[in-house]
Parts: sequence; C-alpha cells; structure tokens
Amino acid sequence: MLKGKRIILGISGGIAAYKSLILIRLFIKAGAQLRVVTTENALWFVTRVSLESLSQNKIYDKVFGPENDYTTEHISLTDWGDCFIVAPATANIIGKLANGIADDALSTSLIAFNKKIFMAPAMNVKMFDHFSVQRNIQWLKDNNIQIIEPNEGYLACGYEAKGRMEEPESIFNAIENYFSSENKVLAEKKILITAGPTHEAIDPVRYIGNQSSGKMGFAIAAELAKRGAEVILIAGPVQQQTPQGHIKRIDVTSALEMYNAAMDVFPTADAAILNAAVADFRPETASNRKIKKSDNNLQLSLVKNPDILATLGNMKKKNQILVGFALETDNELENARVKLSQKNLDFIVLNSLNDRGAGFGGDSNKITILDNNNAVLKFELKSKTEVAADITDKLVACFSND
Ligand code: CTP
Repeated sequence: MLKGKRIILGISGGIAAYKSLILIRLFIKAGAQLRVVTTENALWFVTRVSLESLSQNKIYDKVFGPENDYTTEHISLTDWGDCFIVAPATANIIGKLANGIADDALSTSLIAFNKKIFMAPAMNVKMFDHFSVQRNIQWLKDNNIQIIEPNEGYLACGYEAKGRMEEPESIFNAIENYFSSENKVLAEKKILITAGPTHEAIDPVRYIGNQSSGKMGFAIAAELAKRGAEVILIAGPVQQQTPQGHIKRIDVTSALEMYNAAMDVFPTADAAILNAAVADFRPETASNRKIKKSDNNLQLSLVKNPDILATLGNMKKKNQILVGFALETDNELENARVKLSQKNLDFIVLNSLNDRGAGFGGDSNKITILDNNNAVLKFELKSKTEVAADITDKLVACFSND
C-alpha cells in the first residue's frame, strides 16, 4: 500500500524520538520513500548517522547551509512529499504550526506543505493538558491536521499518565489506512464531471460563449482517475487533452447537449461535480445561414437554458453527492450559500473573480468550500492540480461520512 509513496517524517526534540527510528524502518520495509526533517533539539535524542542510514537519505535540519541542494529546500522537499508525519510532536512544534511560525527547518517545511499532515504528540501530561496546547491541537484538527492521540502510560518524567507517543506500529497503520481508505473510497465510484464552456449557436459560424478553458474540470478528472474512480467527463468545446486513467469523455457544444448528456449519466453516478461554465441563455433560433452585414439591425432574442445543476439537485437520491461551483464578483459567500441550498448540493466550490490568480484560463485557483453542514474551508492560491486534490479530499470525506 505504501510502495512508492513519498513520506516526510518530521522529528522534534522529545525522548520519544528514539521510537521514530522504528517508524523509519517500517516505512522503508513497506517500500515507501522517506525524507527526514528534524529540529535542532531532535538531534540530542537521535543521531544524524542513525537517521541517515535508516532512511537512506540525508536529513534536512537547517534552512540555510552549504550542505543543502537548494536554498529553498523546504519548498522542493514539500513539493515532493505525498504526506507529512511529525512524530514525536512536541508542544513547541504543535504551537508553531497552529500559529504560523516558521523559524527552523521543520516548522518552515510544515508551513510550506499543503497536503495531508499527521502529528503524534508526545509530552508530559501537564504540558499536554495545558489550555494553550489543547487550544492549538483543536485548531490543527479544525484545519484538517490529523492528530494521532498519545497513550496513557509511563512517561520519561516518571508520571503514569497520558502523553506517551503512540507506538510506531500504530502510527504506521494510521498512515497506511489513510492511503488505502482514500483509494478504496473512490475505487468503487462512478463520478460525472462537467467542464469547459458551452457555445450557443447564433448562425453556422458565430456563437455566444465564455472564457472557460476547462483546465479546472480536467484537473479534477485527472485527480479522481488517479485515485481509482471511474470518471465520465462531459466536456464543452475546449483545447484540453483527456487525462490518463479510467475516463470516458463525452464532447458536447451547447448547454442543451450538456444537459442531455448529464441527464443520461447522472442516474447511475455516485457523485457529480459540475464545473462547466454553462451559458445561461441561448439564441431562441439559430440561423442556418450565415447572417450578413446587409441584414442590418440584428436583434437576438435569447431564451433561458436549463440549469443542469439545479435539475440534478432535484433528481438527487440520498446516496448521491452533488457538487457545484460558484463564480462570484460580489457578496461571494452569501451568493454561494444561496446556490448551495437552492440547488440541493452537498458542497459548493467558490471562486472569486476578485482574487488575483483565480478563475478562468490560468494555471492557479483560490477556492473556498462551503458545505451543507455550514463548514467554510478557505484555501490559499494554489495550482489547479493542487486545488483538484483539495476538492477530491472533500469528496472523499463526504463519501466516508455517508
Ligand atoms: N450551472 C449549470 N447549468 C446552468 C448554469 C450553471 O449546471 N445552466 C452550474 C455550473 O456548472 C456551476 C453552478 O451551476 O456549478 C453555478 O454556476 P454560476 O454560473 O456561478 O451560477 P448560476 O446558477 O448560473 O447563477 P448566476 O449566473 O446568476 O450567478
């Protein structure tokens, strides 16, 4: 399950650091690739030589130094990793991550990491119970950091209490479960995606369209297929290659064609993510000959297209998950909330045209996810591939809560 996975292990300065050597062995035996990042204090408890021999790699312990391959090693390292586990996590490193402090190799790497993070706290019980540590742990949990709770037992300070780091085998199992459940959840699922613009014909050569490139929808299709889902990608007119994997692509041009294709697929789908920028209106009639300049005073009469998302929202059965997008310029959260409830969605992905780097055409996006339990998840500006992973994570969480 962990074969080929790229794992970053962060070690902070606590006596439980000796157990991290066993954790490294477990990851290496399972075929994972491992990079170790330590705080300065961690190296009082375990030696560089032990860490480097077991992990089969140089450790990263200084942000600046001649031994680093790049001056921005925390970025190249965090781009590389699939998941980050901090074991042991001291009160100090927990507090730093919860408060955005980046002052050494480990805290800087954690803040540069935007995929799944696990932390296995280990400390004296009075420290663990302290309101500031508990507040920081709660904050991290609220932000999707998985805390592997410490055990009760004999602590190095002589106490018998909660604060012992979870055993390496259990930490290893938690990471293995994360990768296997993530893959399993989507492996049995058929997911419909709409992407790109629609073109509404005025005559044989002209249309009403919009600037959607389809990049975001195609990135989501790629991510879902990568995680084992069967994807039906209904694409408007775009210049995009179909991504690798189990993806059936249905090309359409107009909103009505997209509507018909979606209506065919949705009844047998487990989820639908409607990312297309569907034209809200179409010319009432499309001329079947090219309209000439000499025709003078062209007046186009427009009629409303069906709202595909709202129609699917009405048809949705209890076990189906429906996801919409909202592109807004003002009253963003409020408008997105209205769409979420009116269209009967499980969650909605809000793009604001006011955010630089977000929206049509580019390679990056900045989203906020609002779900039907009133949770609001705000994300940083990221590449569309990374945004697709965040949206997929949220979908996996919806399936898992079913
Ligand atoms: N959508 C759809 N069919 C339409 C219009 C929109 O399926 N005819 C879907 C889009 O794919 C998106 C969501 O509805 O997931 C919201 O699209 P958006 O354009 O933001 O909102 P509208 O509902 O069209 O409302 P408005 O344009 O008034 O903001």
